[in-house]
Amino acid sequence: MELNEEQLLANWSTFLNYIEKYITGERKQKLLDFYLQYEERFVLMPASHKPQYHNCFPGGYVEHVNRVVEASLKVNQLWNEFGTKSNHTVEEVVFAALNHDLGKFGDFVNEAVLPNPSEWHVKNRGEIYTFNTQLDYMTVPDRGLWLLTQLGISISKNEYLAIKLHDGLYDEANKPYLMSWSPETKLRTSLPYIIHQADLLAARVEFEREWIDKLNNTPVEAPKLSKTKQEPKQVVVENDSLKDAMASFFN
Ligand SMILES: [Fe+2]
Repeated sequence: MELNEEQLLANWSTFLNYIEKYITGERKQKLLDFYLQYEERFVLMPASHKPQYHNCFPGGYVEHVNRVVEASLKVNQLWNEFGTKSNHTVEEVVFAALNHDLGKFGDFVNEAVLPNPSEWHVKNRGEIYTFNTQLDYMTVPDRGLWLLTQLGISISKNEYLAIKLHDGLYDEANKPYLMSWSPETKLRTSLPYIIHQADLLAARVEFEREWIDKLNNTPVEAPKLSKTKQEPKQVVVENDSLKDAMASFFN
């Protein structure tokens, strides 16, 4: 997948417009200032650094995030139609969706992924990116939340939980929040489920777009069958006392 310059700029404009339209208060300007300050990095960022994962191409990040915002608004609507208690706002939906993968940015100095210096990996494996080892390890949700605190951007509890838990049960660390059987410790907002479902949907769409046709056009080798038919192995009872006992039982 490749995006041309026009598509990159259109996606970036959609992204900025989500902030403009849905985010209120002083954090709107803070978000715009931050994203515009690092515009070049964001516009060209991939959503992942391995071709096996989703949207691993220049511009893949913004393209993915826009899809998650759009899907989140629709998934939110769906949950509302089914009568869930809407104890979060539309602004929280968009804020969480916009920033759910922010941790993929890296930090203010280091980008999380860099162009792969290994020609061999680019040519033979299509790995155009490599992870930047200058960056200290943090999970994507942790780094995203940390970045927001560094920017002095206030964040609601619902948004915090939605960003933290957006990988759902794909991340073991989320179990205490998502596998609670006691009503008191269950989440009191549905926002993390909504963001997770929207993210899952977006990543699946991106996987199908990238891989399904390629996979279907690849001949699948039939499993090799042995030419000689294998007879089931016979178990021979060698135990004489067992044979004697059985003989006396049946006589
Ligand atoms: Fe995502």
